[in-house]
Amino acid sequence: MSNSLFRKKTVNSVLAEAEHGASSQMMKILGVRDLTSLGIAAIIGAGIFSTIGRASFNGGPAVSLLFVFTAIACVFTALSYAQFASTVPVSGSAYTYAYVAFGEIFAWIIGWSLILEYAVSNMVVAISWSEYFTGMLAGFGVSFPGWLSSDYGSAARAYEAVQQSAASATDAQRVLAAAYEAAPSIGSLKVIMDLPAGLITVLITALVYIGIKESRNASNALVVLKLAVIALVIGAGVFYIKPANWTPFAPNGVGGVLSGVASVFFAFIGFDSISTTAEECRNPQRDLPRAMIYCLVICTVLYVLITLVLTGMVNYKELGVDDPLAYVFQKVGVDAMAGIISVSAVVAITSALLAYQLGQPRIWMTMSRDGLLWPIFSSIHPKYRTPWFSTMVTGLLVALPSLFLDMQFFIDLTSVGTFFAFIMVCGGILYLDAKGISAQSKFKVPYVNGKYLIGIGLIGVVAWGLSGGWLFSSMAEKPLLYVFYLTWAVLSVLAFQRNFSLLPVLGILTNLYLMTELGLSNWLIFVVWLVIGLVLYFSYGYRKSKLNRSPVQQ
Ligand code: ALA
Repeated sequence: MSNSLFRKKTVNSVLAEAEHGASSQMMKILGVRDLTSLGIAAIIGAGIFSTIGRASFNGGPAVSLLFVFTAIACVFTALSYAQFASTVPVSGSAYTYAYVAFGEIFAWIIGWSLILEYAVSNMVVAISWSEYFTGMLAGFGVSFPGWLSSDYGSAARAYEAVQQSAASATDAQRVLAAAYEAAPSIGSLKVIMDLPAGLITVLITALVYIGIKESRNASNALVVLKLAVIALVIGAGVFYIKPANWTPFAPNGVGGVLSGVASVFFAFIGFDSISTTAEECRNPQRDLPRAMIYCLVICTVLYVLITLVLTGMVNYKELGVDDPLAYVFQKVGVDAMAGIISVSAVVAITSALLAYQLGQPRIWMTMSRDGLLWPIFSSIHPKYRTPWFSTMVTGLLVALPSLFLDMQFFIDLTSVGTFFAFIMVCGGILYLDAKGISAQSKFKVPYVNGKYLIGIGLIGVVAWGLSGGWLFSSMAEKPLLYVFYLTWAVLSVLAFQRNFSLLPVLGILTNLYLMTELGLSNWLIFVVWLVIGLVLYFSYGYRKSKLNRSPVQQ
C-alpha cells in the first residue's frame, strides 16, 4: 500500500498527456506582458482593497516592511514554481508538480490545499466586494441595511464592544453595533448575513458556468483599471499625509506587525496562478519565470507605497475597516474621491473574483481526470463547454460561507493552506535536483550551493538568540517555532550531505517561518481540513486513481 500511496507521474507521461490531450488544441498566445498582466489581475484584489486595513490597524506603518519580507518569501517560491512550470508546462500547477515530485498522496493533499487558496480566498474577495459595493451605494444615497451586509460574528463582537465602552469604540464598530441592534430576530437568534457577498458569487458563478472567460484583452483592461485606482490613491493620498501619523512606526511592536502576516500574505496570493496557463504560453520556459518576478516586484512596490499612504493619511487605529482605500478619503473629507475609488474597486475586485472562480473548477477537473475525484467533476457541459458541475459546486462552496462568516477566519485558513502548498513546491525542486530531472528544466532556480550556508545560518540565528536571551522565550511563547527550528536543522544536515540548492531551502524556511506566525489554532483547523481530505482520498481517489490501473511509477 505504501508504494501505491507514493505512485508518481513521470515528467514524460505528463508531457505526453498534454501533447495528446486538450492542451494540444489550446492556443499558445500568451507572452510575458500578458502573463504579467494576468498575474497582477489575480494578485490585486481583496488584499490591497481590504485586508491591508486590518493589518495596518494591528501593526501600524511598519506593516510596509512586512510586505517586503513576505515578498522575499514569495520570490523564492516563484522561482521554484517557475522551474516546475518550465519542466511540466501543464495546467494542474502545484497539484501536478507534487504528482511528479512526491507522489499521489501529496498531489492529493496539495490539490486539497489549493481549494483553500482558490475557493476560500474567494470568500474573502466576495466579502470585500460587498463592503465596497455597499459603500458605493451609500455614495449614491442608497443605504443598504447593515444587518444584510455584515457577518454575525463581527456584528455581535462590535455590539459587545460598544456596550462595554461606547467612548472608546471605533466608527466601524459603532456601525456594526447599530446593524446588530436593527437586525430582526428568529427566536433569540439575530438574522444577520452578508447578502451582496453571496449574490455576487452566485452571479459570477453563473457567468463562469455559461462560459464567460476573461479574454486576454479584457484582463489587460481590468488590470489597467486596478492599477489606475491604486495610482490614484497613492497620487492623491500623498497630499494628505501627515508625517506625525507615522510615529510611532510600530506602535504594537514586532508582535503587532507580525499579527498581519495572514493578511499581508493574502495580498500576494495569485502570482502562482499564472502557472496554470502554461499550456497557453508561447514560450512558457522563458516567459513564466520573468512574468512571476515582474508581477511580484510591481505589486510589492505598490503595496509598500499604499501602506505608507494609508497610515500617513489617518491614524493607524482608524484602519480596522474592510474598505480602507475609500475610507481614508472619506475621513479626510474628500468624499468625491472616496466615491470614485468605491466604484472602481467594485469593478476591480469583481475581476479577481472571476479569476479564482474560473480556476477552482479547473483544478478539480484535472484531479477528476486523474481519477482522484468523481468523473462528474470533469464532465464538460455540451453547450457551454465548461466543467459545469465543478463550477456549480464551487459557486455553492463560496457563496454559502461568505453569507455568514467573518473575513478574518477565511484569510487565516487561506494563508495556512497556501503556505503549505508553497513549501511543497519549494521542496519539490530539491527532489528534481536529487533525481537529475532538473537537467530537463528549461528554467532552473539559480543554483547556490547550500552545503554549508544553511547550517551556518542556523548556528548564527541560534547564537544570536542565545546571546540576546530570546531564543527559548520565543519558543515558549510560540511552540510552532520548534517545528521551524527542527525543520531547519534537518535541512542543514541533508544540505550538507546532498549539496542542496540554497534558494528553494530559503523558500521553505521563510514560508514556514511566516506560517508559524499564524498561530496554533489556524494550524489545527488546517489539520482538520487535511484529515477530511485524506478520508475522502482513501474512500475514493486511492482506489479509483488512473495510476491504479497503469504501472506504478517509483
Ligand atoms: N491576492 C488576492 C487578493 O488580494 C487573493 O484578493
